Amino acid sequence: MNNNQEIPVRTQVGIVGGGPAGLLLAQLLHRQGIEAVVFESRPRARVEARQRAGLLEQGTVDLLRQAGATDRLDHEGLIHDGVLLNYNGRRHRVALAELTGGACITIYAQTEVVKDLIAQRLEQELPLLFEAEVTAIDSLDTGAPLIHYTHQGAARTLACDFVAGCDGFHGVARQAAPAGFFKTYDKVYPYCWLGIIAEVPPSTDELIYAFHERGFALHSMRSPTRSRLYVQCAVTDTLEDWPDARIWEELHLRLGTPGWTLHEGPILEKTITPMRSFVTEPMQYERLFLAGDAAHIVPPTGGKGLNMAVADTKTLFEALRDWYQAGDAAGLRDYSAACVRRVWRVQEFSNYMTELLHLNPEKSAFDQHLQDSRFNLLTTSAAASQVVAENYVGLAAQRAAAAPQPQPISHIV
Ligand code: PHB
Repeated sequence: MNNNQEIPVRTQVGIVGGGPAGLLLAQLLHRQGIEAVVFESRPRARVEARQRAGLLEQGTVDLLRQAGATDRLDHEGLIHDGVLLNYNGRRHRVALAELTGGACITIYAQTEVVKDLIAQRLEQELPLLFEAEVTAIDSLDTGAPLIHYTHQGAARTLACDFVAGCDGFHGVARQAAPAGFFKTYDKVYPYCWLGIIAEVPPSTDELIYAFHERGFALHSMRSPTRSRLYVQCAVTDTLEDWPDARIWEELHLRLGTPGWTLHEGPILEKTITPMRSFVTEPMQYERLFLAGDAAHIVPPTGGKGLNMAVADTKTLFEALRDWYQAGDAAGLRDYSAACVRRVWRVQEFSNYMTELLHLNPEKSAFDQHLQDSRFNLLTTSAAASQVVAENYVGLAAQRAAAAPQPQPISHIV
């Protein structure tokens, strides 16, 4: 936000967290004439540098379009209508479009989505505060919740109608409910991903996910000249354990199929990501609504983290719009149930993909045979491949969202 612009002391929706969920929510609300202030604790450069996954479902692209944030995505996004699964050198193609009545995925990095949304908000001169540390959120059970924060050395308070907690797994929003209110579930996997970005054209037109007896590998991409690749590594590994030559050696071995060549190039970035599943229930406390990683984490194998955050954002946006435009509280009342149902579907799919494709050092020989058989089913049953395709492109998630169950949360206002 422009330094000489006045920071409001009151708004309609206070948004904690300037990642994709918070920024997209702010923009969708703005287009309906609903005011918001976005607080981000990190500096802009750090937010924009953070490398995450890069797989967008059609529903995600559609919502970004509704927000007017697809100018660059429309030019630079890479559309894929299939995905390749390798199992010990054997290749199986899941024909996404064919199996789902035409649905595709788009490869466009999450960090680029975030850059686009930040640029758009700043261009519109709408409130987005970087290095704004939210210290407390209270009065959530009144009509005017308060967000206390520090910015540029001063302690301030913003009053609002609703708070959107979009500040990630380590954020403060979840802590604003009384201790024990949110129930959490989690699972930590006994392996990590080492991810690289390499300055080399992708060696494949479609993403390759590979199980190999040495562990998982994934060949993704960022652009016609940049590849994004991952290898499974041990939870105790550090970047020092993985010099460039070792990374390429493992990628060749794990991704290799007869007649296919992996091209190497300079490695620009290397990171290690732990793998976990995490769910918070419910996703609402009084006038606080959680969205994205603040409420749930998935292991990255299905590429679902951003898509789930965007799906929450859509549900929350529509609920707030109905509240402000028609005084209709039904969407807010049903928010958590609608999201949680979708979250568990996506959790199951992400867990399925993760366990199908990784070498689990803790697994018995019996379990390894089950894993092999699960892959064989995919190669022999069109129905099994169709289930993977529907979940991968996001159709199942949308269907689940379209049928929310009645939910027990007592009241909104
Ligand atoms: C990525 O491009 O970073 C990516 C793609 C698909 C995944 C995970 C990561 O499942």
